[in-house]
Amino acid sequence: MPRKTQYQTPTVLVAGGAGFLGSHLCETLLERGCKIICVDSLLSGSLDNIAAMRNHPAFTFIEADICDDLEIKGSIDQIFNMACPASPPRYQANPVHTVMTSVVGTNKLLSLAARHGARMVQASTSEIYGDPDEHPQRETYWGNVNCTGPRACYDEGKRTAETLCFDWMRTEGLDVRVARIFNTYGPRMRADDGRIVSNFIVQALDGEALSIFGSGEQTRSFCYVSDLIDGLIKLMTVDPNPGVPINLGNPTELTVIELAKLVLEVTGTPALLSLEPLPVDDPRRRRPDISQAAELLGWKPAVDVRDGIRQTADWFSRTRCEPQAFPAGETVASLHIVYD
Ligand SMILES: NC(=O)c1ccc[n+]([C@@H]2O[C@H](COP(=O)([O-])OP(=O)(O)OC[C@H]3O[C@@H](n4cnc5c(N)ncnc54)[C@H](O)[C@@H]3O)[C@@H](O)[C@H]2O)c1
Repeated sequence: MPRKTQYQTPTVLVAGGAGFLGSHLCETLLERGCKIICVDSLLSGSLDNIAAMRNHPAFTFIEADICDDLEIKGSIDQIFNMACPASPPRYQANPVHTVMTSVVGTNKLLSLAARHGARMVQASTSEIYGDPDEHPQRETYWGNVNCTGPRACYDEGKRTAETLCFDWMRTEGLDVRVARIFNTYGPRMRADDGRIVSNFIVQALDGEALSIFGSGEQTRSFCYVSDLIDGLIKLMTVDPNPGVPINLGNPTELTVIELAKLVLEVTGTPALLSLEPLPVDDPRRRRPDISQAAELLGWKPAVDVRDGIRQTADWFSRTRCEPQAFPAGETVASLHIVYD
């Protein structure tokens, strides 16, 4: 398969570009002079996220589902596949569509990349490690995933998407790279989507007790969004293709209780915690081993978690009015069920 020379100012298709990470990615790429084609179904993203870019001459928005056929006139040099709801209540609301997005949608984008001779970066996830027996998680760890549980639509969908990427690489010579993203937070997270950082900040700003599921001793590692975007772009542009999945995340590990205390301290709110039952298949520990990213991409996160939480809390207090409603007709079992 012919591969394109990578230009200084490539045309980049960002699938899921109206979402939390995708919109930051579009913004950074625009600032670096790229031409952006943002493709999004607006399932969990929002036009608000891309409002500031809509009138930029190098930015095009296409409302489309990646599970459908997509033809793009003109050339595409790079594709980032960020399209998939990442918060558990969102991806569990329509689990079959979540599987299809990761499997059918990713396959369609791989085929599009092949037709255009483009490079692709697939946004995979630390969820492919499931509830890990290995700690910290290296890319060589195969994972411990319940394939029939309520999180499986996301975890197994993303695992199959990785399989597809490596099959396209082996059989078609496609230049595809896989980022295993660990918990990332920052401005533009939705106030209502059940992720731990946004949950805690919104509860603190509203003077409510912070919901702690289980003992609160389970751990997560939190990466600030600007660091993650930097890692994704480095993964896209590095030569040669690493040829293996790469963990991207911040290895600083916090227990859920420690994060709650940090949010209370940064927001200056009184310490109120509410203990709730642990959800099904909630992973106990999460921390990326990022030695491959350091070695192959020259990447490591730069933003300290306290600074990142402060910037995120500032953004929520500046911008938040009322939580956004889920689109009509969609059923969401619970808005406060997990930490992802
Ligand atoms: N944020 C994190 O902590 C995190 C961690 C691991 C992996 N990831 C991955 O990064 C990507 C982006 O995550 P995010 O946090 O920005 O989530 P998000 O929900 O904010 O963004 C996903 C975007 O994809 C769009 N989308 C969903 N399904 C689609 C479909 N079938 N066709 C077209 N568009 C579709 C949504 O409307 C949304 O704009 C996801 O693939 C997610 O799995 C994120």
